Amino acid sequence: MCGITGYVGDGVALDGTDGGTDDDSGARVGDFVHEGLRNLEYRGYDSAGIALVGASSGLTVAKRSGEVANLAVPDVADATLGVGHTRWSTHGPPTDANAHPHTDCDGDVAVVHNGIVENYAALKADLSAHEFTSDTDTEVIPHLIEEELAERSGAGDLLDAVRAVEDRLEGSYAICAVREGADRIVVARRGSPLVLGRGADATFVASDVTAFLEHTRDVTYLEDGDVASLSADGVEVYADGDLVDRETETVTWEADAAEKGGYDHYMRKEIHEQPESLRQTIAGRLDVDRGEVDLDVSFPPGFLADLEEIQIVACGTSNYAGQYAARLFEELSGVRATVDIASEYEFGAGRSPDRTLVVAVTQSGETADTLGAVRRANAAGARTFAVTNTLGSTVTREVDDTAFIRAGPEIGVAATKTFASQVATLAMLAVSIGRERGALAAADVRPVLEGLRDLPGAVQQVLDNENRVREAATEYGDSEAFFFVGRKLGVPVALEGALKLKEISYDHAEGFAAGELKHGPLALVTPDTPVLALLTEGGRADETMNNVTEAQTRGAPAIGCVSAGDEYGTLDVSLPVPDVGVAEPLVANVYLQLFAYHVANDKGRSIDKPRNLAKSVTVE
Ligand code: F6R
Repeated sequence: MCGITGYVGDGVALDGTDGGTDDDSGARVGDFVHEGLRNLEYRGYDSAGIALVGASSGLTVAKRSGEVANLAVPDVADATLGVGHTRWSTHGPPTDANAHPHTDCDGDVAVVHNGIVENYAALKADLSAHEFTSDTDTEVIPHLIEEELAERSGAGDLLDAVRAVEDRLEGSYAICAVREGADRIVVARRGSPLVLGRGADATFVASDVTAFLEHTRDVTYLEDGDVASLSADGVEVYADGDLVDRETETVTWEADAAEKGGYDHYMRKEIHEQPESLRQTIAGRLDVDRGEVDLDVSFPPGFLADLEEIQIVACGTSNYAGQYAARLFEELSGVRATVDIASEYEFGAGRSPDRTLVVAVTQSGETADTLGAVRRANAAGARTFAVTNTLGSTVTREVDDTAFIRAGPEIGVAATKTFASQVATLAMLAVSIGRERGALAAADVRPVLEGLRDLPGAVQQVLDNENRVREAATEYGDSEAFFFVGRKLGVPVALEGALKLKEISYDHAEGFAAGELKHGPLALVTPDTPVLALLTEGGRADETMNNVTEAQTRGAPAIGCVSAGDEYGTLDVSLPVPDVGVAEPLVANVYLQLFAYHVANDKGRSIDKPRNLAKSVTVE
């Protein structure tokens, strides 16, 4: 997840606060872009860059690694338009060279991009005559535009060139392109957000309205497949080659809410970002037809064939992601998989280090307990692997291999979108190991890959049902305690659901394997202890429902996340989960996140910064 923005106009703020046009108007174009980037930094802060186009000064690009504050606005007094980018690295480390904007060979065209160009390797191979200066997927785009412009004898329109290039790009993206001598910004959107800010003599564009809300509240949201040409006078939007009308609406959020995308809390915003973050997690990594996964990781020859054990080490929510994955590792790769709480991990006697893969799951990459476990595994001689969200984090420097979950920055202390992306990444790793070991035929793996492919849409369907969860939270939120139950893949999700609720609402919540209820916890069950159950595919729904009924017999209300098409008539609340096979409990978890959120919100809790907790726990 990166942030992109742009401005074309007379350098006067749309609310007129900067007065009329004067000699500084060009300088203010750069300032507007820089300000937009500062407002978008929640989307990434690995590097920042700006490209400005001046009437006679041409195209000027400034970019560098690090936060936006480190980037000086280029001094272009006659600038009339500009674009900017703040990066959350996915392809290539956060260096100056990998920072956006990226340019063509002659430095005439500059592009900023959010998303992933899945077929960039093939496109780059076609562009062998071009000079590339970065490791990014993005850089193919300005070079493709250069080719399109050359085919039109250099005189072609940037809009036509971007439209032609768009046809060749696969993946999810939002791009802004500028060209020396052109008086407009051309933008395109497929799968990644892009919104226009409208004014009389200026137009803004950004990944999110936060970028320009201080200047205009009149916005147009672009739709997937739209390509638009932005000038100071207005915008032209094209869909499938035809000029289309896209509605302009007025944003009414206050500045504080705007930072959170209109939500009251980062946590709710991040819950709602999951379709986008999951799209990024899987982009370019799944080949459903061939039953393959590409995580860009290669193990030494023979290592996977000889692999005897996968040991997952992690804390908290990451540990529950690991527990979900362990079951998938065993089923898909045929290798024994264990999960340790990182602070409890020892490399067990009798294990062969050279036949063990230790997988550290850590959003931050900085959790001291998890790093301690990695160091113990390294000292024992095992091969170590990190699944993390954070490029350049300590864990990435200490392990042999890393797979990034690409969820983008998570600000709420309670992990939400990163849990989903961790599980999805680990599931891909399980498939990849299973396939490389020859344990899985392409046909066997296809349903799993289809489930992963369909995850973003399935999560969106759950988010669209938020009102039903909100009502349940209001009805049951004042209960004495909450129990979460599931079986198989439902167990880690039950544990995660309970953790989420206790973290942010401070209520007593516990997760159990449903079958364990009758072995003790049932003594706690009363009419004042709702039971939330995972009744989905991958979670032995019927047996779980038997245990739920045992709790209902003792008077407990029951809320069930139920596979679409199934029905358990005795549930007090039934929440439908779209059919995505073994990914269903992961989708159901979004209901549990929303339940926790609304219970805590009704109680006025400090949701983004719960008491006594920190986002990154760097002490043992
Ligand atoms: C819970 C939560 C924590 C973290 C744990 C590990 O919402 O966020 O339980 O999951 O502290 O953190 P990472 O994943 O950064 O190692």
